[in-house]
Amino acid sequence: MLGSLPEIETDALLRLIAMAMEDERPEKIDVGVGVYRTSDGATPILSAVKKAEKRLWESQESKGYLGMKGDKLFPELLKPVVFGSHADDPALMGLQTPGGCGALTLGFKLVKAARPDARVLVGTPTWANHEPLIRGAGLEIVTYPYYRKEETRIDFDAMVEAFENARPGDVALLHGCCHNPTGADFDHGQWAKVRAIIADKGILPFVDIAYQGLGDGFEEDGAGLQGLMGAVDEIIVSQSCDKNFGVYRDRVGCLFFKAGSPEASARAMDHVMQLAREMWSMPPDHGAAAVRIVLENDDLRQEWLDEVASMRARINQLRRRIAACDSRLAYIEDQKGMFSMLPLTPAQVDKLREDHAIYMADSGRFNVVGLSDDDVDRFCKAVLEAMDG
Ligand code: LMR
Repeated sequence: MLGSLPEIETDALLRLIAMAMEDERPEKIDVGVGVYRTSDGATPILSAVKKAEKRLWESQESKGYLGMKGDKLFPELLKPVVFGSHADDPALMGLQTPGGCGALTLGFKLVKAARPDARVLVGTPTWANHEPLIRGAGLEIVTYPYYRKEETRIDFDAMVEAFENARPGDVALLHGCCHNPTGADFDHGQWAKVRAIIADKGILPFVDIAYQGLGDGFEEDGAGLQGLMGAVDEIIVSQSCDKNFGVYRDRVGCLFFKAGSPEASARAMDHVMQLAREMWSMPPDHGAAAVRIVLENDDLRQEWLDEVASMRARINQLRRRIAACDSRLAYIEDQKGMFSMLPLTPAQVDKLREDHAIYMADSGRFNVVGLSDDDVDRFCKAVLEAMDG
């Protein structure tokens, strides 16, 4: 039976990771996958997380099951970080998931359970795994252009038009901050307009926030989502700690949602727990427990905030350096988070890989912080050459 399976292409980004790992050219620049790197190319464990893991190891007395919600304190401690002054909304509930992917899957399955014919409005390009996860939940996708790659700007009019044409009960997938793959976030005015149309058209916002703290700061990066919280009765939020706690392989995420009332949210939670039970039953504990320990101890919390601030400073310093290389790259300074997208064709991206050992996604997306300090000039020169070629 299994022998009859057809060949399929595996995920392009995962293929890129494997190719970059196999390339032994010393000049290799890997700006493919989105992981934070120091100038030496390392992805270190944050010191606050390492200390929390030590405390966990010393204090944990059982590995008995925790239940479908995982660590119950973990979402409660994350709420103020993600939702600011809306954290105490009694209708806001959350549960631990295996990474952001787990939260997205669970959130879209919740939509499918509540409204099987809901459509999901997705701005393209978006993170490569969004569409497979939405389709996997059995929902229809309606795409609209989010970004004009050649003009290096958001196509806000196209998005407004797509939202104007939405049906009440459709879902809009939004990036909370640090848009993956473009780095192009809404400004305040655009968020205000998004809030107004969503509320007016009865669209359910589904906000994916996986890079909070790596753009302008936790408050600034959470402001768009927090503004939405005040404007709608219902919202779904997939959150990831993989990047801002550097716990990538531990798969640490959270699904939050708010229905129209605390009672309606509690009913939704029963559905969510059943859906989780059918997939992973209970989420893995270790990474979320370490994050919980960081958040509940003032000393570790401050150390973590300082470490994120220094990651953010490095990202933004690299952005400024790239932007200073040439006016055609100047837009990169204004974008946010780990990624920006270069106006390159897949053939130009291939050539960068073949001629310069530079690895980036076919779309031209590159991980800004995959560059070491010494790489920047060579990277910019090669990219500009490719753009001219
Ligand atoms: C990325 O976009 O590079 C990361 O979110 C890793 C992934 O799983 O795609």
